[in-house]
Amino acid sequence: MRDVRIEKLVKRFGNVTAVAGVDITIPEGKIVTLLGPSGCGKTTTLRCLAGFESADEGKIWIGDQLVFDSKQKINLAPQKRDMGMVFQSYAVWPHMSVFENIAFPLRIRKTSRRKVDELVARAMRMVGIEELKDRLPSEISGGQQQRVAFARAIVYDPAVLLLDEPLSNLDAKLRERMRFEILELQRKIGITTVYVTHDQEEAMVLSDEVLVMDCGKVIQRGDPEEIYFDPHNEFVADFIGKINFLRGAVLNCQDCGSIVSIREEGFQSEIHTTRTDYAEGKKVLASVRPENIIIYPDKPQEEVNTWPARLVRKNFLGGLFDMVVEVKGKELRCRTPFKVEAKIGSDVYIQIQPKDVLLIDIN
Ligand SMILES: Nc1ncnc2c1ncn2[C@@H]1O[C@H](COP(=O)(O)OP(=O)(O)OP(=O)(O)O)[C@@H](O)[C@H]1O
Ligand SMILES: [Mg+2]
Repeated sequence: MRDVRIEKLVKRFGNVTAVAGVDITIPEGKIVTLLGPSGCGKTTTLRCLAGFESADEGKIWIGDQLVFDSKQKINLAPQKRDMGMVFQSYAVWPHMSVFENIAFPLRIRKTSRRKVDELVARAMRMVGIEELKDRLPSEISGGQQQRVAFARAIVYDPAVLLLDEPLSNLDAKLRERMRFEILELQRKIGITTVYVTHDQEEAMVLSDEVLVMDCGKVIQRGDPEEIYFDPHNEFVADFIGKINFLRGAVLNCQDCGSIVSIREEGFQSEIHTTRTDYAEGKKVLASVRPENIIIYPDKPQEEVNTWPARLVRKNFLGGLFDMVVEVKGKELRCRTPFKVEAKIGSDVYIQIQPKDVLLIDIN
């Protein structure tokens, strides 16, 4: 168990800059997720960390050991970096039994036969696949192969575990269960872990800290709640969960809160917020999560942030209703676990509590 530090990492492929100056610190024993859309540089960052790719610039430390430094031309081979990696495709060897797949990293480290038996048995026990020992990968399921890949990554007690979208090949139900299993295992062995995913829910469940990446850069880092409730820009707000944006400018800002004038085409109104730290005139996106828009069939008593609307769409997702309402030409997404009696096309009222309006700067 050691911490990991990545400093000013840059990796180019021809004229594509896959990683554009990334700084990451992963505290010992924690699980940090790199989350971002396809092509944002997650895998490349992980491969540079593991030593499968040489970065063009930057430094990487594992504990006190400098394993990569572009200036000093230090570049330790992957097997010398004390990391276990699970690849997106699992990369289990089809001609080797489950036992031999898991034993492989020990064999290349010339571990004694007795020790191999002992360590492989322990790793198989940890991920619950002891009974599959003699099978070939073609004779086990995708979820079981994933466990084999996991056992192979942890069998030699590496200091750091790297996981690149390890659940993406599994069906939705198994994927959800495996999230909790990975988390439990990670907590049990307390290994410093970097987890790569483009699935925000997975990142939320698993992470001590989430690093949101876009175009080769980390654009926000924080614990899952911070990232969800306090996104710093439009990209993060939109990528993490669902959100409605109302374009506008701060009309006035006082100790008790601020008022934003909404300047959407058709929908020109004022929205009250509890933010007290904005300059008047500042252009912002007043942003509201779908679960924070309350729908009423009749006009409610409270008039602040209340607007007449029309129900445009209503879908029952099992456990919650997902809806679209239209307010003066602007469509807003709403979600509620409560039964909504209103019919599509009917007039309703929507209300948003000032505390639920996030303000995001527009540059
Ligand atoms: N070997 C390579 N040669 C050329 N370009 C590459 C290579 N590997 C990655 N890239 C490019 O670098 C960028 C980042 O790729 P990377 O695989 O790191 O993205 P990612 O965030 O892991 O995406 P995904 O979610 O699709 O796996 C992309 O534009 C990709 O096309
Ligand atoms: Mg990838």
